[in-house]
Amino acid sequence: MDIILGQALFLLCCCFILSCFLIFTTTRSRQTSRKATALPPGPPRLPIIGNIHLVGKHPHRSFAELSKTYGPVMSLKLGSLNTVVISSPQAAREVLRTHDQILSGRSPTNSIRSINHQDASLVWLPASSARWRLYRRLSVTQLFSPQRLEATKAMRANKVKELVSFISESSDREESVDISRASFITTLNIISNILFSADLGSYNTKDSINGVQDTVISVMEVVGKPDAANYFPLLRFLDLQGNRKTMKVCIERLFRVFRGFIDAKIAEKSSQSNPKDVSKNDFVDNLLNYKGDEAEINISDIEHLVLDMFTAGSDTSSSTLEWAMAELLRNPKTMVKAQAEIDRVIGQNGIVEDSDISELPYLQAVVKETFRLHPGAPFLVPRKAESDVEILGFMVLKDTQVLVNVWGIGRDPSVWENPTRFEPERFLGKEIDLRGRDYEFTPFGAGRRICPGLPLAVKTVSLMLASLLYSFDWKLPNGLVSEDLDMDETFGITLHKTNPLHAVPVKKRVIN
Ligand code: HEM
Repeated sequence: MDIILGQALFLLCCCFILSCFLIFTTTRSRQTSRKATALPPGPPRLPIIGNIHLVGKHPHRSFAELSKTYGPVMSLKLGSLNTVVISSPQAAREVLRTHDQILSGRSPTNSIRSINHQDASLVWLPASSARWRLYRRLSVTQLFSPQRLEATKAMRANKVKELVSFISESSDREESVDISRASFITTLNIISNILFSADLGSYNTKDSINGVQDTVISVMEVVGKPDAANYFPLLRFLDLQGNRKTMKVCIERLFRVFRGFIDAKIAEKSSQSNPKDVSKNDFVDNLLNYKGDEAEINISDIEHLVLDMFTAGSDTSSSTLEWAMAELLRNPKTMVKAQAEIDRVIGQNGIVEDSDISELPYLQAVVKETFRLHPGAPFLVPRKAESDVEILGFMVLKDTQVLVNVWGIGRDPSVWENPTRFEPERFLGKEIDLRGRDYEFTPFGAGRRICPGLPLAVKTVSLMLASLLYSFDWKLPNGLVSEDLDMDETFGITLHKTNPLHAVPVKKRVIN
């Protein structure tokens, strides 16, 4: 009996010692693996504000400069917000491809939260949510598929024709054109017609529906404005910069207009005895008819989705066109070369069409070169780590904001020869593509969160640019010469030209 008791005690002791050993070793190994992967290096931090003092007016430039010292995966502490800045194609590949799933969260800004947009938005919902997957699928299949783009081809051509007519009238009066404003109205109307078959903008300010075009611009400005609450969430309720208040006012105004269009569609639907020809349906028609197994889509959801498309799509496209024209006016030989190519392909009295763009490799290279030097979203739309993840040997902790500095990568001399020169030739005969496969050049992002509007954006910018170059010669107003044209930028959610580009159009041919 004693022997049995002794053996049992011996076994119990062995089990106890073994368990302690296992607990000790697993805890140790977890601790060492967390320690073994260091956090990314970064500049020294001040108490409370961390590195906010280093952000400056041009964060894309300040961070590109800092990354020369701290490397392509750099840590910053912005108030209480852990931030990692990515500044090389290799590191971008890790974020946008290798760890795309973990790094596809978003950190909604204070102004976005003020209207609860983060719970209903394709742009701000985390990619892990079922609703994001539904919106993504709907936008890819019903807005930007090749079939849908083909269906809106004539409408888009018509909107560009209206732009050319407007510029032609300015040319008759020998007046300069505000390129950004004119192209913004064109892109706004292209998007509003795709969404609900109506114009929202007008070249004549008085006709703009309830000032919608200015309100869309205000929304973009307020989302991109500095806000202490983005760094110190506890300050949200104080609304120190007034961003929450401005955002609410703008959104009330916009949603009232969207609601008017949606209600009119509902009324039309209920009064129709025969169902409408589905091939004529726009995006909002399709959303109103949506019957999915997974989820319902209500009117409020539609308003938020429509808001996403206007804010993500209009300003980015028009700003790219403005930068392209500014670069061409600064580089007249490049402008002449692009015009010669268009004239050769279109002939004397034609009209540039969507299908012509594939025959214009130099124009395509001009558009790519513009995206390289002036990416619409210099940090993409900031990502957020959904869990701890290792990037090029450094640990990026859960909830860290991740900024991919595509502006910095586009101007890195170790990646691009003569990086600050506008040389479209660098893209000729090269396979470098902007569809998120070449990590030195990702103006639309990459991976699961790549811009879904990319096909529409590239078509719209290319068609507007080709049409402006085909129909007009361009000069700077008030005797300004190319070298004097400033290229100052204002940082926001999109990167704007600080001083809007004004240029004088001179008709090259008869415009109908
Ligand atoms: C020159 C024009 C444009 C540029 C430079 C641009 C750029 C971008 C970038 C960088 C992102 C974030 C990608 C990422 O996180 O990896 C994005 C997202 C997005 N863009 Fe665009 N975009 C443009 C035009 C458009 C247009 C025309 C639309 C729609 C009408 C659009 C709709 C969206 C939406 C809905 C998202 C959010 C996607 C998501 O988070 O899942 N964009 N865009």
